[in-house]
Amino acid sequence: MHTTPGIHTTQSIQDDVYAQWVKDPEGFWAEAGDAIHWNKRWDRVLDSSRAPFYRWFPGGVVNTCYNALDWHVEHGRGDQPALVYDSPVTGTVKTFTFRELLNEVARFAGVLVGQGAGKGHRVIIYMPMVPEAVIAMLACARIGAIHSVVFGGFASHELAARISHAEPTLIVSASCGIEVNRVVPYKPLLDKAIELATVKPRRCIILQRPEERAPMIAGRDRDWGELMAAARGAECVPVAATDPLYILYTSGTTGMPKGVVRDNGGHAVALKWSMPHIYGVEPGEVFWAASDLGWAVGHSYIVYGPLLNGNTTILYEGKPVGTPDPGAFWRVISQHRVRVFFTAPTAIRAIKRDDPTGEHVRRHDLSAFRTFFLAGERCDPDTLHWAEQQLGVPVIDHWWQTETGWPIGVNCVGLGMLPVKPGSCAKAVAGYDVRVLGEDGHELPAGETGNIVIRLPLPPGCLPTLWNNDEGYVRSYMSRYPGYYLTADAGYKDEDGYLWVMGRTDDIINVAGHRLSTGAMEEVLASHPDVAECAVVGVADEIKGEIPLGLIVLKVGVQRPADAIADELVARVRERIGPVAAFRKAIVVQRLPKTRSGKILRGTIKKIADGKEYRVPPTIDDPVSLDEITATLATAGYPRR
Ligand code: COA
Ligand code: AMP
Repeated sequence: MHTTPGIHTTQSIQDDVYAQWVKDPEGFWAEAGDAIHWNKRWDRVLDSSRAPFYRWFPGGVVNTCYNALDWHVEHGRGDQPALVYDSPVTGTVKTFTFRELLNEVARFAGVLVGQGAGKGHRVIIYMPMVPEAVIAMLACARIGAIHSVVFGGFASHELAARISHAEPTLIVSASCGIEVNRVVPYKPLLDKAIELATVKPRRCIILQRPEERAPMIAGRDRDWGELMAAARGAECVPVAATDPLYILYTSGTTGMPKGVVRDNGGHAVALKWSMPHIYGVEPGEVFWAASDLGWAVGHSYIVYGPLLNGNTTILYEGKPVGTPDPGAFWRVISQHRVRVFFTAPTAIRAIKRDDPTGEHVRRHDLSAFRTFFLAGERCDPDTLHWAEQQLGVPVIDHWWQTETGWPIGVNCVGLGMLPVKPGSCAKAVAGYDVRVLGEDGHELPAGETGNIVIRLPLPPGCLPTLWNNDEGYVRSYMSRYPGYYLTADAGYKDEDGYLWVMGRTDDIINVAGHRLSTGAMEEVLASHPDVAECAVVGVADEIKGEIPLGLIVLKVGVQRPADAIADELVARVRERIGPVAAFRKAIVVQRLPKTRSGKILRGTIKKIADGKEYRVPPTIDDPVSLDEITATLATAGYPRR
């Protein structure tokens, strides 16, 4: 256990609340459900009749946008800031009160309806971190349309795959995004994606940003500003609690991402519960998640969670470093009086690299700052200690996944505070029955590493299924251990019940807090005409946590220089997946180490590249292949010093 001078742990009732949930799970969620406004209260809390397809609050009728905006305006929060857009890359700070945000959202909801979208229709949102993206999300929720936000760092092919799968009526996009030192034109990426997609949207609504205007395609594209100027507000459309609110595609084990579905009722209940109980934040306070709207964190804790709870949320269009300096986060916290802040450990490592002694921290008044949450990857103890020492507030690592949409394991600060164990995300939250199973399905004793699973049903807010893919939902998550959801994370529970989540058991890697599939990258490499075989592994990186490294075997007879081919592969991954993949290195090898059944030993390759000890797998086909790989990687500078 660990305490930092100046940071006091308070008596936690997290265990008691967990015990209450264990005793009466449906009663627990019924009580949480009462914190939401329902057009019609649910008939039952949980429908288990089609397990593993559980449904929360069936019979309930609700509108998520109403709960996030209208309700607050009707109950005296109309003049409170709801959204503060802080954009160091454009030099803008703009505040929307709840009333102003509601007006914008209602008008854009009217635009969506006018352009042919309605209840159950999909709307893809491919936008940078601008208020219009939040407005578009909430406007979809208002009319019962299902939004699917695609992260701006993905390129055309990734966007096309999502368009083809989601079959949107409309796409909402912008002319450009702004990175630290370049303008990223979005429109050409969008146009190409639509060209590649097997399904075409009826219309595209384009926000023209002054930094770079985009040419419009007559008949298909409409200008955001012009449509809004002529729009009339649309009212909330009540939907079933079990109707989808959004689809969020996330990396799976192949090139085709998984469409995680979020319902309306359970989602609103879980997120609203999480704000005071997990994050310890009261209505009216300022909450900031420095993530991107394209990720689950952005959906849950830039948009829905804070607004449902009546908090002011910050939308930050900038980076932790370089916009303009490593004090950027502390400037925002100070300027907007942020109480609770949430980001990924990678961002703190980047800040620590540029400001190791915390000089920039001390330039800002952080007196309002109360708690700092980290997620997206395991927080290494060094980063945690640095943040605690520099910031003087509790630093809380917490574990969750796109699929769950809200934390699974966390120190629930709103319920007091458990002692912090650096490297652990603390304990399971009420609603999650987390177990660690061995290969044979038996529960493992404390301290033993195995597959982390969650006993069904998952709590409200977690994915009820995958979009148009019930079978994939069962195959990916429910089939390995019947009765349990497979998290695909490995780790253990210690004797105090703390969870230690140590890494993925599949081929997903975590690059700078971004979830990426090595399988998807391998598909891109394998499509190159000179490549016979390939493997992509995530190698350790001081700032980004992991970065992908490609190993390729060339086809017999290929004479072209290896460097030229490697460069083409790097460009191909950037073009197909996007810059966010951070795929910068491909190395030609003579052959890949494999098991006798032909499985590439990616785990062993990763250990060699990281300079970690490894065991020669007993099933290896030819142990000499490992020596060859070790030598080739050494020549290329791995393990890195
Ligand atoms: N649109 C277009 N391009 C984007 C983009 C977007 N929305 N987001 C990232 N990119 C590009 C970057 O410009 C960069 O391009 P480059 O290869 O030309 O330099 C590339 O994608 C990789 O970006 P990123 O992973 O952000 O690396 P970085 O070196 O620019 O910054 C960090 C490193 C650590 C500062 C940054 O990754 C970060 O802030 N991460 C936190 C992530 C996070 O919040 N995750 C959510 C979980 S809570
Ligand atoms: P994403 O779906 O992008 O949120 O990524 C989810 C994955 O990130 C999890 O399955 C974990 O592998 C990892 N992850 C997220 N937060 C943590 C954490 N606090 N500790 C350990 N791993 C984490």
